[in-house]
Amino acid sequence: MRYQLKQIQCRPWMLNGLSPKLIESHYENNYGGAMRRLNAITEQLEAMDFEKAPGHVLNGLKREQLVALNSTLLHELYFASLGGDGKPVKDMSEVLARDFGSLDRWRAEFRAMGYALGGGSGWVLLTWLPRDGRLINQYAAEHTQAVASGVPILALDMYEHSYHMDFGANARAYVDTFMRNIDWPALFQRYDDAAKVPGLRPLVQPEFGEVKGVAVEEVKAMLASGQKVQVIDVRPRHFVSRQQDIADGIEWRDPEQLDKWVGELSKSEPVVVYCAYGFHVGCGTAVKLRELGFDARYMNSGHSGWKATGGPVRMFP
Ligand SMILES: [Fe+2]
Repeated sequence: MRYQLKQIQCRPWMLNGLSPKLIESHYENNYGGAMRRLNAITEQLEAMDFEKAPGHVLNGLKREQLVALNSTLLHELYFASLGGDGKPVKDMSEVLARDFGSLDRWRAEFRAMGYALGGGSGWVLLTWLPRDGRLINQYAAEHTQAVASGVPILALDMYEHSYHMDFGANARAYVDTFMRNIDWPALFQRYDDAAKVPGLRPLVQPEFGEVKGVAVEEVKAMLASGQKVQVIDVRPRHFVSRQQDIADGIEWRDPEQLDKWVGELSKSEPVVVYCAYGFHVGCGTAVKLRELGFDARYMNSGHSGWKATGGPVRMFP
């Protein structure tokens, strides 16, 4: 396949403090160059006999293809980022305040990241992170260090070719000029598109639909705050003997013998049970306890979740 060049999205003659000559050179030589490289590399890969090609040759080409592909994508976003009056629109300001504390706090970090790359090279990106449903500021060195699953919506090019012609080595002045040229209405439109991208689908256990799971972080916070909650490890016996550890301060009860220990529990305090990973045993035990009139929930991700979040354990049994 051949990748196709995209038209520049900003109008070079309308920018404030960035010369048309600089923008033209950037588009024609750096963006265009990356596109030409991308197509040349892709052509070589298409002609390659993957059964016979040495690993290092394939490695090199795939790496260069990634660099060139990301360079084209980020340059297209860079030009689309420019062309406004730099005045933040209300909707976007509110989004940035939600995710960074305030508009000024976002701007201070983004700008400082640009300053810090002066004399070096790389990208400063404002990126939507679908898993967490929020925006972050990130670096992308070598065009390639993009956040997996992230959708960048604003790009500041800090490679010298993007400013040297107009600003010499004065990278700070270039960053400030970039900020004055951000097209805020277009940025908000891109945010609006990106925010529709969902994260990885959550685990669904329809058979336990009516029982609420509770995050391991939430359980830890309840315990730390001294809230009255009865947390019980109900891993099957064979798991306990294989794993040989237990969350510190938590008691184990055999899920097969619920009838024998249920009398120890109080109905006036909530109960949280969990098994090894948060699947059937923990959920099933929570269901049984609810049927018996307890305010019971299960802890998502179970004993492994406790350990994965750095929870202390002791040897057991
Ligand atoms: Fe560039």
